[in-house]
Amino acid sequence: MSQDHPYPPLKLADRVCSLEGRGDPFTAYEQLGAETRTALVGLLPDQWSFEGKRALDFGCGAGRTLRHFLSEAEAGELWGADIDAASIDWLQEALCPPLHVLRCEVDPPLGLEHGSFDLIWALSVFTHLTDNSIPWLLELHRLLKPKGLLIATYMGRWTSEALAGEPWDEDRVGMNVLRHDQDWSLGGPVALMSDWWVRAHWGRAFEILEVEPLIHGQSWALMRKRDIELTTEELERPEDGPREFAALRHNLRQVQREIELEQQAHEQSLKAHEQSLSWRVTRPLRAAGRVARSFRSR
Ligand SMILES: C[S@@+](CC[C@H](N)C(=O)[O-])C[C@H]1O[C@@H](n2cnc3c(N)ncnc32)[C@H](O)[C@@H]1O
Repeated sequence: MSQDHPYPPLKLADRVCSLEGRGDPFTAYEQLGAETRTALVGLLPDQWSFEGKRALDFGCGAGRTLRHFLSEAEAGELWGADIDAASIDWLQEALCPPLHVLRCEVDPPLGLEHGSFDLIWALSVFTHLTDNSIPWLLELHRLLKPKGLLIATYMGRWTSEALAGEPWDEDRVGMNVLRHDQDWSLGGPVALMSDWWVRAHWGRAFEILEVEPLIHGQSWALMRKRDIELTTEELERPEDGPREFAALRHNLRQVQREIELEQQAHEQSLKAHEQSLSWRVTRPLRAAGRVARSFRSR
């Protein structure tokens, strides 16, 4: 049982999904991880078994999902990889064995053999990758065995209002990147994807078997590795037709708006700072004025 195992420090649990306002944070962490397990198992083929299989949780954090697969890790081999050293160190100490973990760099490769895994999942990871998104997708393709399965989540449709501040419009979103340089401690960058873009680009390397449209605010795609070798350029190349360009133009507008909002916020904080500075500098003058007025009124 996952509850019988230690929990990571709150800071590590909280960094993969804000636990604020969800009651007891570890109960919420446990619950959310159990839900992702159910969703993953629900997408796997009926005859699937972990017995003798190797699986990887790419971008595993401190194991919110992996901790719910510890018995499967005894029957097969379960790996976790993440860029976050503190999360990987904690997992190494607390849950290995039965898990195996490794820290990865920001960009691929992962340093494991071709065809190492039967199954890879990446939950809430491609939702935040930007320039290295397609290179990582191809790296996961490389790491899968022939016909290996990938479950990857993407977001857009369900979170457009909250993340982009506008209603969802499939025709102006391909892979639109927002908050490109936002730190991971603030949630990292945001990559919005539409179903058509995922089918047009990810679909070149993977056969898209199923898309479960709404779990934890994201779409979950079950894909099977195609027997094909592709480069980043081949996967990124826009498909024919106007929507790729419409989406690019819209992404430009979104970035422009982000810059304007940032400038406004910067100017406001500068103004507030100047006001408080002039208030402090003129404090002795105001005090002298009060003294003079009190003499006059005697
Ligand atoms: C939103 S969290 C999701 C964590 C986990 N998949 C879950 O559902 O609990 C995104 C994770 O992706 C990891 N990540 C970001 N960039 C990465 C990269 N280039 N390689 C591996 N992991 C990465 C982050 O460190 C973070 O732990």
